[in-house]
Amino acid sequence: MLSAHRAEILSLHQDPREAGAAAIRHHADGLLVVEDGLVVARGDYADLAPKFASVPLNAHPGRLLMPGFVDTHIHYPQVDCVASYGQQLLGWLDEHIFPAERAFADGAHAREVAGFFVNELLRNGTTSALVFATVHAASVDALFEAADGRGMRVVSGKVLMDLGPDGLRDTPGAARAETEELIARWRGRGRIGYAVTPRFALTSSDAQLAVAGELVARHKHVLMHTHISENRAEIAAVGARFATARDYLDAYEQFGLVGPRSVFAHGIHLSHRECARLAEAGSGIALCPTSNLFLGSGLFDLARLDEHGVRLGLGSDIGAGTSFSLLATMGEAYKVCQLQGQALDPFRALYLATAGGARILGLGDRIGSLEPGQEADFVLLDPCATALAARRCATGPLAERLFAMQILGDDRMIAATYLMGEKAYDRDGGAMA
Ligand code: GUN
Ligand code: ZN
Repeated sequence: MLSAHRAEILSLHQDPREAGAAAIRHHADGLLVVEDGLVVARGDYADLAPKFASVPLNAHPGRLLMPGFVDTHIHYPQVDCVASYGQQLLGWLDEHIFPAERAFADGAHAREVAGFFVNELLRNGTTSALVFATVHAASVDALFEAADGRGMRVVSGKVLMDLGPDGLRDTPGAARAETEELIARWRGRGRIGYAVTPRFALTSSDAQLAVAGELVARHKHVLMHTHISENRAEIAAVGARFATARDYLDAYEQFGLVGPRSVFAHGIHLSHRECARLAEAGSGIALCPTSNLFLGSGLFDLARLDEHGVRLGLGSDIGAGTSFSLLATMGEAYKVCQLQGQALDPFRALYLATAGGARILGLGDRIGSLEPGQEADFVLLDPCATALAARRCATGPLAERLFAMQILGDDRMIAATYLMGEKAYDRDGGAMA
C-alpha cells in the first residue's frame, strides 16, 4: 500500500554539531512517500510528484512534517504525580512517587494508566519512548499491550529495586526470573523492545546489580535503563554506599552496566572522567530539563558532555518532568543552556528529540530521520496553533520558525501523529486507536 504526503518537510539525519548544515534535510514543498509503513522516498514535491503521480496524495498545506519525537526517559506510572509540590528527589520519591507506584500491583489500574499514557504520547507527537514501568511485572505487560495495540515503538522493563520501600521491593532472584519471563514473552512482538531497568544504584543491592549486569550480557538485544547523577544528596549517598567506586558511573561499571546499550537519565553533575568513560563506552544520556528544574536538581552541562562526545537524547521524565511535549522540552533545554552561557541551536535540539534519541536507543537505522527505508513515524506540526504562535512561527527563516516553535510550542501544535504511515492521532478528531 502506497501513500504520499505533501508538506514542508524537515529532519536531521546526523548531529549538526558534527555535520553542520549538511545534517539538515529540508524541503520547503516536500513529498514523503510511504509503502507498507516504510519511507520509500522523500524529497522536493516537484521532483518526486511525476514518479508517484498514481499514488493517493494527502496534502497538508501550512503544516511542517517532521519525524515523530523520541522520548528517551519517561515513567508511565507517574502520570498522576505530575506537579507534586515541595520536595527534591529523595523526599519526592518517598512522599509522592512510591505510594503512587504501589497502586500498580493492581493490573486493572496499570492498564487504565497505560492506555492514557500512550494516547498522551501520541497527542504530543511522541512516537517512540524508553519508559519506566514499576517493580510489578504486570505493569510492563499493561504498557506493552497498550503500545502494541497502537503499533507504537516502546521500550520498557520491570523495575529492579530490592532495596526499595515497603510494598515495592523485589529480590535478586525474582528480578532475574521476572525479567527473563518478560523478555521471552515480548521478544519479536510488534515494535516492543526490552530494557533491563534497575531504578538507580541506591534501590538495588550489589547482588541485584550483578543480576542486572548478567541479564544485559546474556540478552544482546536489550537495553539497560537507569538514573545517574541527578541530585546532590543522591550522589553523596551513592558515594557512601559504594566505597570502592571512583564515582557514580563506576558504581554501575563494577556490575557491567556501562556499555553501548546503556541509557542513563539526567547526568547533571557528571565529572570529566565520567563523561569520558560514557563517550568511550558509547552509552547515552537522556537529558531531562523540565524535571531537573522542577525538582531543583541542577543544570545539565551540555558543553561538558559535548566536549567528550557523549551520545545524547531528550527525555520528558514525567512525572518529575512537567510536560509530555518534547517541543516544550526543547525550549526548556535551551533555557538550561542559557543559564550557563551555553547555546543549544534549534536544529541540534530537534536532532536530540528525534534521530539523536533514536541513536541512543539503538534504533537510529529504523526511526528518527525519515530516511528511505526507515519506519514512517511522523508528526504534522501546526505553526499557527495559537494566535501568538501564528505571528511568530508561520513565516520567516526556517531556523527562526523552528526555534519559536520550541519556545512557544506544546501539544496544541501537534495537528496529527502517524505511526508506520497510519494516522494514530488527529488533533481535531482525537485518538484514532
Ligand atoms: N531516581 C530514582 N527513581 C527516580 C524517579 O522515579 N524519578 C527521577 N526523576 N529520578 C529517580
Ligand atoms: Zn526518571
